[in-house]
Amino acid sequence: MKLVAPSILAADFNKLGEEIEMLNRSETDFVHCDVMDGVFVPNISFGIPVIQAVNKISRKPLDVHLMIVNPEKYIQDFYNAGASILTVHYEACTHLHRTVQQIKSFGMKASVCLNPHTSVALLEDIIQDLDMVLLMSVNPGFGGQTFIENTYRKVSALKELIQRNNSKALIEVDGGVNFEVGKKLYEAGADILVAGSFVFGSDNPVDIISKLKSL
Ligand code: DX5
Ligand code: ZN
Repeated sequence: MKLVAPSILAADFNKLGEEIEMLNRSETDFVHCDVMDGVFVPNISFGIPVIQAVNKISRKPLDVHLMIVNPEKYIQDFYNAGASILTVHYEACTHLHRTVQQIKSFGMKASVCLNPHTSVALLEDIIQDLDMVLLMSVNPGFGGQTFIENTYRKVSALKELIQRNNSKALIEVDGGVNFEVGKKLYEAGADILVAGSFVFGSDNPVDIISKLKSL
């Protein structure tokens, strides 16, 4: 699958409504929303009220990436705000299995994210329960960073793990994506590319989104 999830972290917040309208007109598959708490990651972004506002005008499903500690406390809140896919970090969940089941109990797609140093092998006993795995290809916290090359190897290893376990999980990759990186990621087995600055920093984001889908 070749799906694209633009990250609104790189959008112009002075005209967030217009940015969402632009995504509505584009071939965007999911709107990627990066929630940061200043504890799990060294940055603070936006939270529930902003996601609620985005959901009011977005015709695309919301892919909510929680970079927060204790994400299990807020599952219902993000469901109410409009999340379709809810991603929690492996590194932030002591009782990951329970958290994944809670996400699914609301009818949301459950996804787990791995930091660059976290091995995909650690998903062996949860992969069958997951709808998606999000691989960080930069250290989470900031947009506009350089892609970490080791991610290609992780995508291949994750694909093998998914197939071996008959899992339906899709593979999403987040951070430093551009045309060159995106092409190699799709070739390695990625299904969904997140792109922030590459999309919103462009003069023609609709065209960039379309081209990312046909790499
Ligand atoms: C980083 C976020 C990413 C970020 C990607 O912590 O999870 O979604 O917005 O931005 P780019 O595409 O600019 O690397
Ligand atoms: Zn993200």
